[in-house]
Amino acid sequence: MAESETGEIDTRGTVTRRDFLRLLGAAGVGLAFAPFIPWGQFMPNPSNIVPKKVKVTLSDGTTANLKTFPVNSSEVITYPVTGDPVLDSEAFKKWQFVRLPPEMGGSVNDISAFRVYSMVCLHLWCLWKYWPEIGRRRGECPCHGSMYNMLNGKAFAGPASLQAPPSNVLPLLFLEADGTGDLWIKPAVWDVNVNGIVGYGRLLHS
Ligand code: FES
Repeated sequence: MAESETGEIDTRGTVTRRDFLRLLGAAGVGLAFAPFIPWGQFMPNPSNIVPKKVKVTLSDGTTANLKTFPVNSSEVITYPVTGDPVLDSEAFKKWQFVRLPPEMGGSVNDISAFRVYSMVCLHLWCLWKYWPEIGRRRGECPCHGSMYNMLNGKAFAGPASLQAPPSNVLPLLFLEADGTGDLWIKPAVWDVNVNGIVGYGRLLHS
Protein backbone atom coordinates (compact mmCIF):
# COMPACT_ATOMS: atom_id res chain seq x y z
CA MET A 1 0.00 0.00 0.00
CA ALA A 2 1.38 3.46 -0.92
CA GLU A 3 1.85 5.74 2.04
CA SER A 4 0.38 9.22 2.09
CA GLU A 5 3.05 11.91 2.37
CA THR A 6 0.61 14.23 4.05
CA GLY A 7 -0.46 11.74 6.63
CA GLU A 8 -4.06 12.04 5.46
CA ILE A 9 -6.36 9.20 4.62
CA ASP A 10 -5.48 8.42 1.05
CA THR A 11 -7.70 8.89 -1.99
CA ARG A 12 -8.81 5.27 -2.03
CA GLY A 13 -10.40 5.75 1.37
CA THR A 14 -7.95 3.45 3.10
CA VAL A 15 -5.65 4.32 5.97
CA THR A 16 -1.90 4.06 5.59
CA ARG A 17 0.21 2.35 8.18
CA ARG A 18 1.56 5.65 9.46
CA ASP A 19 -1.98 7.04 9.74
CA PHE A 20 -3.03 3.91 11.52
CA LEU A 21 -0.28 4.20 14.10
CA ARG A 22 -1.04 7.89 14.66
CA LEU A 23 -4.73 7.26 15.05
CA LEU A 24 -4.14 4.41 17.40
CA GLY A 25 -1.83 6.50 19.56
CA ALA A 26 -4.12 9.54 19.49
CA ALA A 27 -7.12 7.49 20.49
CA GLY A 28 -5.22 5.85 23.31
CA VAL A 29 -6.60 2.57 22.15
CA GLY A 30 -3.58 0.56 23.25
CA LEU A 31 -3.84 -3.14 22.81
CA ALA A 32 -7.36 -3.69 24.10
CA PHE A 33 -8.56 -4.20 20.56
CA ALA A 34 -5.50 -6.13 19.45
CA PRO A 35 -7.42 -9.25 18.36
CA PHE A 36 -9.59 -7.17 16.03
CA ILE A 37 -6.87 -5.18 14.30
CA PRO A 38 -5.57 -6.36 10.90
CA TRP A 39 -1.96 -6.24 12.11
CA GLY A 40 -0.50 -7.75 9.00
CA GLN A 41 -1.77 -4.81 6.96
CA PHE A 42 0.23 -2.30 8.95
CA MET A 43 3.19 -4.05 10.49
CA PRO A 44 6.43 -5.11 8.79
CA ASN A 45 5.15 -7.76 6.49
CA PRO A 46 6.91 -10.41 4.44
CA SER A 47 4.54 -9.76 1.55
CA ASN A 48 6.26 -6.45 0.81
CA ILE A 49 9.78 -7.30 1.93
CA VAL A 50 12.00 -9.73 0.09
CA PRO A 51 12.84 -12.36 2.68
CA LYS A 52 16.57 -12.69 2.76
CA LYS A 53 19.31 -13.08 5.29
CA VAL A 54 20.96 -9.80 6.31
CA LYS A 55 24.00 -8.96 8.41
CA VAL A 56 23.64 -7.52 11.90
CA THR A 57 24.77 -3.96 11.18
CA LEU A 58 25.94 -1.91 14.16
CA SER A 59 25.69 1.86 14.56
CA ASP A 60 29.25 2.36 13.23
CA GLY A 61 28.41 0.47 10.05
CA THR A 62 30.36 -2.65 10.94
CA THR A 63 28.93 -6.14 11.22
CA ALA A 64 28.45 -7.64 14.67
CA ASN A 65 30.86 -10.51 15.20
CA LEU A 66 30.58 -13.08 17.94
CA LYS A 67 34.35 -12.95 18.59
CA THR A 68 34.38 -9.22 19.29
CA PHE A 69 30.96 -8.02 20.44
CA PRO A 70 31.30 -7.45 24.22
CA VAL A 71 29.62 -9.75 26.70
CA ASN A 72 26.79 -8.11 28.67
CA SER A 73 26.20 -5.25 26.26
CA SER A 74 23.67 -4.14 23.70
CA GLU A 75 23.12 -1.96 20.66
CA VAL A 76 20.06 -0.68 18.87
CA ILE A 77 19.78 -2.10 15.37
CA THR A 78 17.28 -1.50 12.56
CA TYR A 79 15.38 -4.31 10.87
CA PRO A 80 14.27 -4.58 8.17
CA VAL A 81 16.27 -1.78 6.56
CA THR A 82 14.51 -0.13 3.65
CA GLY A 83 17.04 2.60 2.80
CA ASP A 84 14.37 5.26 3.39
CA PRO A 85 15.63 7.26 6.40
CA VAL A 86 12.10 8.12 7.55
CA LEU A 87 10.87 4.56 7.45
CA ASP A 88 14.08 3.25 8.96
CA SER A 89 13.72 5.58 11.94
CA GLU A 90 10.34 4.13 12.92
CA ALA A 91 10.14 2.58 16.36
CA PHE A 92 8.66 -0.56 14.87
CA LYS A 93 11.98 -1.22 13.12
CA LYS A 94 14.12 -0.87 16.24
CA TRP A 95 15.56 -3.91 17.98
CA GLN A 96 17.83 -4.44 20.96
CA PHE A 97 20.74 -6.59 19.90
CA VAL A 98 21.95 -8.03 23.22
CA ARG A 99 24.91 -10.16 24.17
CA LEU A 100 23.83 -11.79 27.41
CA PRO A 101 25.76 -11.46 30.66
CA PRO A 102 28.04 -14.39 31.65
CA GLU A 103 25.54 -15.93 34.05
CA MET A 104 23.03 -16.20 31.20
CA GLY A 105 25.50 -17.76 28.78
CA GLY A 106 26.86 -14.62 27.14
CA SER A 107 30.50 -15.76 27.27
CA VAL A 108 29.89 -18.64 24.88
CA ASN A 109 31.24 -17.99 21.39
CA ASP A 110 28.18 -18.98 19.42
CA ILE A 111 24.76 -17.54 18.64
CA SER A 112 23.29 -18.84 21.89
CA ALA A 113 25.02 -15.88 23.59
CA PHE A 114 22.89 -13.36 21.70
CA ARG A 115 19.29 -12.19 21.57
CA VAL A 116 17.54 -9.68 19.31
CA TYR A 117 14.22 -8.39 20.68
CA SER A 118 11.82 -5.75 19.40
CA MET A 119 12.23 -2.56 21.43
CA VAL A 120 8.51 -1.77 21.31
CA CYS A 121 7.15 -2.41 24.79
CA LEU A 122 4.10 -4.65 24.67
CA HIS A 123 2.16 -2.47 27.07
CA LEU A 124 1.71 0.86 25.29
CA TRP A 125 4.57 0.90 22.81
CA CYS A 126 7.25 2.96 24.60
CA LEU A 127 10.81 1.83 23.84
CA TRP A 128 12.52 -0.28 26.47
CA LYS A 129 16.30 -0.88 26.71
CA TYR A 130 18.75 -3.32 28.19
CA TRP A 131 20.39 -2.45 31.49
CA PRO A 132 23.67 -4.37 32.04
CA GLU A 133 24.34 -3.34 35.64
CA ILE A 134 24.63 -6.02 38.32
CA GLY A 135 21.22 -6.46 39.90
CA ARG A 136 19.44 -5.43 36.72
CA ARG A 137 20.57 -7.22 33.56
CA ARG A 138 17.12 -7.06 32.06
CA GLY A 139 15.04 -4.99 29.71
CA GLU A 140 13.24 -2.10 31.37
CA CYS A 141 10.58 0.19 29.98
CA PRO A 142 10.80 3.77 31.25
CA CYS A 143 7.07 4.47 30.92
CA HIS A 144 5.33 2.16 33.37
CA GLY A 145 8.08 -0.15 34.58
CA SER A 146 7.58 -3.31 32.57
CA MET A 147 10.64 -5.56 32.80
CA TYR A 148 11.70 -8.24 30.34
CA ASN A 149 13.75 -11.40 30.88
CA MET A 150 16.61 -11.34 28.37
CA LEU A 151 16.76 -15.12 28.05
CA ASN A 152 13.32 -15.46 26.49
CA GLY A 153 11.85 -11.96 26.11
CA LYS A 154 9.04 -12.59 28.57
CA ALA A 155 7.74 -9.72 30.72
CA PHE A 156 8.13 -10.59 34.38
CA ALA A 157 7.13 -7.32 36.06
CA GLY A 158 4.96 -4.31 35.32
CA PRO A 159 1.84 -4.05 33.19
CA ALA A 160 3.18 -6.02 30.22
CA SER A 161 3.62 -9.03 32.50
CA LEU A 162 -0.10 -8.96 33.28
CA GLN A 163 -1.17 -9.16 29.64
CA ALA A 164 -2.35 -12.41 28.18
CA PRO A 165 -0.20 -14.30 25.66
CA PRO A 166 1.07 -13.46 23.13
CA SER A 167 1.24 -9.88 24.45
CA ASN A 168 3.62 -10.72 27.30
CA VAL A 169 6.58 -11.93 25.21
CA LEU A 170 8.69 -9.74 22.91
CA PRO A 171 9.14 -10.54 19.22
CA LEU A 172 12.53 -12.10 18.50
CA LEU A 173 14.85 -12.26 15.49
CA PHE A 174 16.78 -15.45 14.77
CA LEU A 175 20.54 -15.33 14.13
CA GLU A 176 23.20 -17.41 12.50
CA ALA A 177 26.98 -17.00 12.34
CA ASP A 178 29.21 -17.48 9.32
CA GLY A 179 32.74 -18.89 9.32
CA THR A 180 34.28 -15.56 10.31
CA GLY A 181 31.93 -15.10 13.25
CA ASP A 182 29.86 -12.41 11.54
CA LEU A 183 26.26 -12.51 12.66
CA TRP A 184 23.30 -12.63 10.28
CA ILE A 185 19.58 -12.21 10.81
CA LYS A 186 17.50 -14.95 9.27
CA PRO A 187 14.43 -13.84 7.28
CA ALA A 188 11.64 -12.99 9.71
CA VAL A 189 8.16 -14.46 9.64
CA TRP A 190 5.73 -12.03 11.28
CA ASP A 191 3.59 -14.59 13.02
CA VAL A 192 3.01 -15.02 16.76
CA ASN A 193 4.19 -18.62 16.44
CA VAL A 194 7.48 -17.71 14.75
CA ASN A 195 9.21 -14.31 15.20
CA GLY A 196 6.13 -12.64 16.66
CA ILE A 197 4.42 -9.41 15.63
CA VAL A 198 6.03 -6.11 16.61
CA GLY A 199 3.89 -4.24 19.13
CA TYR A 200 1.67 -7.26 19.71
CA GLY A 201 3.83 -10.14 20.93
CA ARG A 202 4.91 -13.72 20.46
CA LEU A 203 3.84 -17.08 21.77
CA LEU A 204 6.53 -18.74 23.86
CA HIS A 205 6.94 -22.40 22.96
CA SER A 206 8.97 -24.26 25.56
S1 FES B 1 4.67 1.25 27.68
FE1 FES B 1 6.16 0.01 28.62
S2 FES B 1 5.39 -0.33 30.59
FE2 FES B 1 3.87 0.86 29.64
